[in-house]
Amino acid sequence: MKIGLVGAGYVGATTAYALMLQGIASELVLIDVNKDRAEGEALDLIHSTSFVHPVEIYAGDYSDLAGAEIVIISAGPSIGKNETRLDLAGKNYEIFKNIIPRITRHNDSCILLIVTNPVDVLSYAALRLSGFPKNRVIGSGTVLDSSRFRAALAAKLGVDARNIHGYILGEHGDSQVAAWSLTNIMGINFDEFCAKYAGNCGTNIKEEIEKQVRTSAYKVIAKKGATNYAVALAIAKIVKSILRNENSILTVSTYVEDLDGVGDVYLSLPCIVNKHGADRVLIPQLSNNEKADLKKSAEIIKKYIEDVMG
Ligand code: LAC
Repeated sequence: MKIGLVGAGYVGATTAYALMLQGIASELVLIDVNKDRAEGEALDLIHSTSFVHPVEIYAGDYSDLAGAEIVIISAGPSIGKNETRLDLAGKNYEIFKNIIPRITRHNDSCILLIVTNPVDVLSYAALRLSGFPKNRVIGSGTVLDSSRFRAALAAKLGVDARNIHGYILGEHGDSQVAAWSLTNIMGINFDEFCAKYAGNCGTNIKEEIEKQVRTSAYKVIAKKGATNYAVALAIAKIVKSILRNENSILTVSTYVEDLDGVGDVYLSLPCIVNKHGADRVLIPQLSNNEKADLKKSAEIIKKYIEDVMG
């Protein structure tokens, strides 16, 4: 299974490392505008191959993307101090106008997995620029945020994060929505679990956790300059579900025809992800407040799509 990574910066290189450790791909090609960086990351990874499953790793050009099942795009600047992800929309759209045609010229049958921010806007841009069917253009979306949400809940409730159903929906960004009405542990909703098994979590716990999740990236970036580990594992999870046809339910950024009157947009909803890509989009039963917040999130993304793409 061949995977292309366009962008070999923090996220791209760490994603290649995660894919290698998990033995998900047999061939990884790294592409970066900075060829030395791509070659250096590939060399460093090659030096570890005696410790992992056999994998062919090399720095290449767009022509080397031929035959890749998935092409992961993390190229472009990530958020700096005092920036939001949406602030990057214009400059990264310009980069996408250059790279998407260079990918599709050599591979028009792959699944495009977009990571570059703002990922919802750029996933929509990749759909339009590639002309691919919508199931084959996926954004990493809030898969990472849902993991951050589960990690925060796990710490509060004293439960393995893998046993918590918790979803963040909408924008991978400041307007994201915590779907508390879907959150449960063994079918027990959050409020009931807090009261019965976690010694009462406190009156403002939901607001605290929402803020913690929403500001996670900013906190990490302020301390170490970028995020890479968690997003790389989120990407690897999506890739694994595609390549192994796992039908995992993941909150990837996907095309939405119409959400309460906001249409022709990308945002994160629970999707069944398999060899076809974002195969089935699930519309969850949300509370009225969550529905209203999700519509607001869709409107914000739609506005940036229109501002950037006209
Ligand atoms: C983050 C970046 C990937 O949330 O947007 O860490």
